[in-house]
Amino acid sequence: EKGGFDHFMMKEIYEQPRSIRDCMRGRIYPQQGRVQLGGLKEYAEKLKNIDRIIIVACGTSWHAGLVGEYLIEEYGRVPVEVEYASEFRYRNPIISEKDLVIAISQSGETADTMAALELAKDKGATIFGICNVVGASIPRITDAGVYTHAGPEIGVASTKAFTAQVTVLTLIALYIAQIKGTVSQSKLITLLTELNEIPDLIEQALKHNEEIKTIAAKFKDARNFLFLGRGSAFPVALEGALKLKEISYIHAEGYPAAEMKHGPIALIDEEMPVVFIATKHSSYEKVISNIQEVKARRGQVIAIVTEGDTEVKKMADYVIEIPQTDEAFLPLLATIPLQLLAYHIALMRGCNVDQPRNLAKSVTVE
Ligand code: F6R
Repeated sequence: EKGGFDHFMMKEIYEQPRSIRDCMRGRIYPQQGRVQLGGLKEYAEKLKNIDRIIIVACGTSWHAGLVGEYLIEEYGRVPVEVEYASEFRYRNPIISEKDLVIAISQSGETADTMAALELAKDKGATIFGICNVVGASIPRITDAGVYTHAGPEIGVASTKAFTAQVTVLTLIALYIAQIKGTVSQSKLITLLTELNEIPDLIEQALKHNEEIKTIAAKFKDARNFLFLGRGSAFPVALEGALKLKEISYIHAEGYPAAEMKHGPIALIDEEMPVVFIATKHSSYEKVISNIQEVKARRGQVIAIVTEGDTEVKKMADYVIEIPQTDEAFLPLLATIPLQLLAYHIALMRGCNVDQPRNLAKSVTVE
């Protein structure tokens, strides 16, 4: 049942090339530069004229929502707000018929997310769902939606469901761009051609597993961890920290790299491992100066870098390479080594990676 792996989590991490392919199947036509989302077809006109999108979710799904915010704003040019479902529902939010509220939920059963959607529906908003479990409560009450098709996720820590959620949000961002014409046809062709290759690139990223295991051995006894990234790598940092804390019980925090100097820098000493997402994208140089700030205080730097990088390698204590990709798809690749790092550290600490203490796969209490 674990397909030759010791744990469901590892099986599910390794399934990602396949689950992402399944998620994109029949939805992208790279040569034509076209995205087709059957579930949203009737809402094309609505999406063309929408003024604002509100995403509601909890936990890992909320992190996917944050990645979605970057992508939808960048490509679809629609303002997006991402809310914790539990906060949104209790504060008399301002929503109307003009709004589109999208719930993201692997299980489709999370009580707070469900309640946030019901509230939005009562206020007349259009409601969409991005869910993994077919026929769950959330997809049953939404006006429309897109399934992630990641297949059953057994490990309590979400892995393949997260990358499938990010894939769906990428498709939605490009679909809105296509409908509104905010991205040229030729650019859509380039982007979709590259997106189509992401499963193969994830395959390559997974090949660094042994190195990641070696790094995990060095840091398994750490008391704290910081994860830093900028742009769409910031939610990836949050997700890396959440994975580590939930399965290894090491205290970890994710931050936008630039926020480090506004507080967390005080924590840095030789005992503090800091994981940077330092790939060759728009904020590369800025991230490099953040790495220097950590090194100047003797922090231990583990950097996720673009294959062939030499500059970060000179500064970081450890580097993990991921293949070069367009910045739009960086979250899909950069997440992989962080999942593996959390897995190996948890295992080395003797933790139950598939069923961490105090956690349930689906949170149906408020
Ligand atoms: C973390 C994790 C949780 C869930 C959260 C929402 O690995 O799995 O944070 O993401 O409980 O669950 P869903 O997506 O089912 O609504």
